[in-house]
Amino acid sequence: MPFVIAVDGPAASGKGTLAQGLARLYGLPHLDSGLLYRAVGVAVETSGGDLGDAAAAEAAARALGPADLADPRLRTREAGEAASRVAVYPAVRAALKAFQHAFAAQEPGAVIDGRDIGTVICPNAAAKLFVTARPEVRAERRWKQLVGQGETVSRAEVLDDIRIRDERDSGRAASPLKAADDAVLLDTSEMTIDEAADAARRIIEAARVRQGFTPKG
Ligand code: CDP
Repeated sequence: MPFVIAVDGPAASGKGTLAQGLARLYGLPHLDSGLLYRAVGVAVETSGGDLGDAAAAEAAARALGPADLADPRLRTREAGEAASRVAVYPAVRAALKAFQHAFAAQEPGAVIDGRDIGTVICPNAAAKLFVTARPEVRAERRWKQLVGQGETVSRAEVLDDIRIRDERDSGRAASPLKAADDAVLLDTSEMTIDEAADAARRIIEAARVRQGFTPKG
């Protein structure tokens, strides 16, 4: 059975960085599932469509190809907002499921981060991490990232974005953001990146030993 690590959590909690680090540590491929939703949102907007139109979003999700995931526009503030708007549609989520399942099925395993990986996409994942941090801490991290990318935005605006996104992601009926019952919670509010990576590694090591997975090399 592939060794699958599911890393879920709210916006800017640090789950992507932690997932990347774990993937490197164990020599596993990493999928940032948020990119799929971002690509759908950006595709709808680029074609002049309406994010409130579920059918347009579903069509964009079905048409998604690997090249769409490399677009630098996916990292913008606008793309994050568009992603969370199209992510509420069950048909969009269904269209993106097969790709995520195939990614999780590869040997010797995979690291996938998102909102519903441990609950819906890979409920049988060997290891599940739910990464959180206080909204103010997440806003500060995201603000630095966006400004570093050249965006002009205030801290207050980013905090507003985060609160709105938290509410939408947690409140939606289709695969809401929530920790799986068997996920280990990791609050990174008071941790540096290195401390969080260390804590994540310790948590995942226990699952790795349980499953008997040995990384190559
Ligand atoms: O990086 P950040 O946490 O801000 O966002 P992301 O992981 O790229 O996800 C962007 C949006 O996509 C989220 O706010 C969710 O609405 C949606 N998403 C989802 O519904 N399910 C996933 N597995 C991943 C992302």
